[in-house]
Amino acid sequence: MKESVVVFTGAGVSAESGLRTFRDMGGLWHEYAIEDVASPQGWRKHPATVLRFYDERRRAVLEAQPNAAHLAIAALEAKFDVVVVTQNIDDLHERAGSTRVIHVHGEILKARSTLDPSLVYRLDKPGIALGDLCEHGSQLRPDVVWFGEDVRHMDDCREYFAAASRILTIGTSLTVYPAAGLVRFARHDSKKYFVSPEGQPLPRGFTWLKGHAAKVVPRLAEAWLSGREQL
Ligand code: OAD
Repeated sequence: MKESVVVFTGAGVSAESGLRTFRDMGGLWHEYAIEDVASPQGWRKHPATVLRFYDERRRAVLEAQPNAAHLAIAALEAKFDVVVVTQNIDDLHERAGSTRVIHVHGEILKARSTLDPSLVYRLDKPGIALGDLCEHGSQLRPDVVWFGEDVRHMDDCREYFAAASRILTIGTSLTVYPAAGLVRFARHDSKKYFVSPEGQPLPRGFTWLKGHAAKVVPRLAEAWLSGREQL
């Protein structure tokens, strides 16, 4: 049986693909107010602004390519039973070849009905306009999780974290709960690594691998695939 690995990613894993993070210098939340563009209240007040914000994000995702970190994570599947739990709404893990990707904050390339959240559509054009309707006639919105809304698949994710013998966390400030709290479900005897360029408080038991994801993750994956545990 293959050893189980959870790879837990945030915006930092896609930074070197050209997608902006949220809280770093130049991050999205320095330019936009969360309550304006990523909350149900913002949507009620200014739906056109919210749609425009996510249209820009979607365009950036469509132009981006997976980087060496995404590719290395996908390559781990040759030897490990890998689940990728991502806070990211982009599809770069899938395009790199990862086959089990859980998007706890939703997916930018999908739209959903504002009437029935189970009606989800893959977008076949880059934007959602006011007046784009679901099959029951209600406005479509991005299929992403806004602040105050339920985060997806948390029960499954807790189980994956609790079962994994290795946990590789990459490029997240661990500030947004409940997703950030998943690291606490890691087994005490699992091997836990945290990739980030800047020092930040690490969750208990994690070893810091300092550096950018596209540099560090391929080296770690190569070590793991050749039977070494460390870089
Ligand atoms: P943040 O912007 O909060 O954090 C990004 C992290 O990535 C920081 O710790 C950076 O140091 C690190 N980083 C930057 N460049 C990196 C690189 N090249 N390689 C590795 N690490 C790098 O992003 P998230 O933690 O993903 O949610 O944010 C969590 C959630 O907040 C998002 O999913 C989004 C946002 O609001 C919603 O919108 C619901």
